Amino acid sequence: MTDPTAAPKKLFIKTYGCQMNVYDSQRMAEAMGAEGYELTEDQSQADMVLLNTCHIREKAAEKLYSDLGRLKPLKAEKPDLKIGVAGCVAQAEGEEITRRMPLVDLVVGPQAYHRLPAMVRGEAPKIVTDFPEEDKFDHLPQRRATRRAPAAFLTVQEGCDKFCAFCVVPYTRGAEVSRPVERILREARDLVSRGVREITLLGQNVNGWHGAGEDGRDWGFGRLIRAIGEIEGLDRIRYTTSHPNDMADDLIDAHRDVPQLMPYLHLPVQSGSDRILKAMNRKHTADHYMRLIDRIRAARPDIMLTSDFIVGFPGETDQDHADTLRLVAAVSFGTAFSFKYSPRPGTPAYDRPEVDGAVADARLQELQALLSRQQKAAQEGMIGRTLGVLFEKPGRIAGQMIGKSDYLHSVFVEAPEAQVGDLVQVRIIESAPNSLHGELAA
Ligand code: SAH
Ligand code: SF4
Ligand code: F3S
Repeated sequence: MTDPTAAPKKLFIKTYGCQMNVYDSQRMAEAMGAEGYELTEDQSQADMVLLNTCHIREKAAEKLYSDLGRLKPLKAEKPDLKIGVAGCVAQAEGEEITRRMPLVDLVVGPQAYHRLPAMVRGEAPKIVTDFPEEDKFDHLPQRRATRRAPAAFLTVQEGCDKFCAFCVVPYTRGAEVSRPVERILREARDLVSRGVREITLLGQNVNGWHGAGEDGRDWGFGRLIRAIGEIEGLDRIRYTTSHPNDMADDLIDAHRDVPQLMPYLHLPVQSGSDRILKAMNRKHTADHYMRLIDRIRAARPDIMLTSDFIVGFPGETDQDHADTLRLVAAVSFGTAFSFKYSPRPGTPAYDRPEVDGAVADARLQELQALLSRQQKAAQEGMIGRTLGVLFEKPGRIAGQMIGKSDYLHSVFVEAPEAQVGDLVQVRIIESAPNSLHGELAA
């Protein structure tokens, strides 16, 4: 343990990739807090630098090596500086990282974070990437009783058994595991008791969550949301990321029945072509997705939908691309992420012949142009509406606050009396490229 009289050491964490990594970074910061480390935003002051990495596309993974290269002068100046690599690159590449970059002191995979303090103390191996049986979160210290930002993440499910042909997640995060109901509820209540008003439930396949409920029955994700909806003081619930094949009826019904569940759903489809969906091993068709959207909109007519797309997947033709554009036009998304296919070592699609790079670039531009027109239309559709906004921080201009609307748009509001954590009704008056402007509703 730590010497309480010693000055706290400084920990700098850089987080890449998805929200799961953001959550994990917080939990690692808390675990290292118990070891006498406090967070710093200034890398040059750090006694330890932890890079929490992403392996999803080649660019994301290569970022680690350029960042490590840039740490060389700091390590030369401070030989005691500890450099750790966590996250999905750590899991995928393991000791390859220390071979390529000897300045790295430790490598810890996403399922082994509870071993991080022992690793830092030198009481565990330098490289830990095994998938243990126990729940790592049980062995990470309880979150400290400090006040929290009004919106928080809570991981309820990890890993993926879907094996889409392009994706590294089943290999970097392992098999699907759901955390037990009572731990999730305990953590949610604890967050609320510390000022949290909005919780986003996280999982690589969050809607595939299931577990033994308090009533002894097997609960699905919709039932879990209903239970979380009963927590006094929690105003908003969100979740991400879901798979179309796990949108159970009870979850769709929860969108109708649970008022705290925000009218927003991120539901990746990847492509609008059945041929490509099959080659991707998505196990659903474009029509299945469209019918699902109809059912979700029937349950919650004002829901905003968002998605992920990959263009230039091996074998994609102009016709397949046209099918994707048609699906996008038919659904009308609030916003969406679109990526050019990146072949990932170890995945089934890795060796398949690639689409010409310039063709893929052109398709990506065309898709992004359509998606940004839809985003603009969705934002402009908010003008004149009165929405809930949860204030998260002061704006740059005095008297202004920034928060998230029910639909997850950033909203700027003149509200000199307001505090961070206030949930207020705001009338939207203007739409800017990536935010909205509103005024307090009377
Ligand atoms: N579990 C989620 C998201 C996983 S990764 C899901 O099933 O949708 C987030 C997004 O990254 C994916 O939805 C996909 O659009 C994109 N992605 C994953 N692997 C990729 C690859 N090899 N090349 C390009 N984009 C990829
Ligand atoms: Fe990757 Fe597919 Fe699993 Fe999502 S469902 S994490 S895209 S394998
Ligand atoms: Fe990246 Fe791992 Fe998340 S690969 S997207 S950090 S699950």
